[in-house]
Amino acid sequence: MMMADEASPRVRPVRTEAYLDLFQMLTGVVLVTFMWAHMILVASINLDLGGGRVMNAIARFFEATYMAQIGGPVIACIMLAHFVFAARKMPLRAREQKAIWKHSVRFHHLDTWLWVIQAGTAFIILIMGSIHMWTVLTALPIRAAKSAARIQGGWWLAFYLVLLPMIELHVGIGVYRIGVKWGFIKRADRVAMHGFENKLTLIMIGIGLLSLFTFLVLTKA
Ligand code: HEM
Repeated sequence: MMMADEASPRVRPVRTEAYLDLFQMLTGVVLVTFMWAHMILVASINLDLGGGRVMNAIARFFEATYMAQIGGPVIACIMLAHFVFAARKMPLRAREQKAIWKHSVRFHHLDTWLWVIQAGTAFIILIMGSIHMWTVLTALPIRAAKSAARIQGGWWLAFYLVLLPMIELHVGIGVYRIGVKWGFIKRADRVAMHGFENKLTLIMIGIGLLSLFTFLVLTKA
């Protein structure tokens, strides 16, 4: 086996690519799981109509167990690692970007457009996600009144109204693409699964918008 590896210069890069793809998928799955949990935990603000008791109790639990203090930076590192794994396939030069755009227009194929959206949203999420995590994690503890003050200030509301659809599109398309790429979604099921992914994305955006509305209108800052 060793000899075959050494004799064939092609074996090693192909295997390395497969491992890099695997790590890209695994870090992606961790981030999708985190994101769904995050949106549901933030949505706890709706449970007592903006009162904040449920959200504050959840926040206290995460702080007392150091999950916010340690888990937050860990998620930030996983996000960065995921970006680095994925960036090796992104068109970073202007020439490459022009070429991928020309090909996408010519192919006019759904999965190619999904990939373009995936790559575009990735850059925005990396920047806005980092700003958001820095802001929340350097101002612990997390409390409903503090979140409401941020959102009622206006700028953070605008910020979240951009970040929310970006992250939900990226997560929804990401789950669909993992399914297609790793063979969980067969060719015949693609259209149905894409429809399911669209509905899931809309539901998560709806939950996010509801939380933002509650912070804006019902929660005391
Ligand atoms: C790493 C730890 C994270 C913590 C502790 C955290 C915490 C919070 C908190 C407390 C809020 C309520 C609003 C506020 O206080 O300003 C919030 C909202 C939000 N977060 Fe995070 N967050 C984290 C990571 C992320 C990441 C990685 C993303 C996406 C890249 C993200 C996207 C959002 C969005 C879109 C909202 C708007 C609220 C909504 O629509 O439900 N968060 N987050």
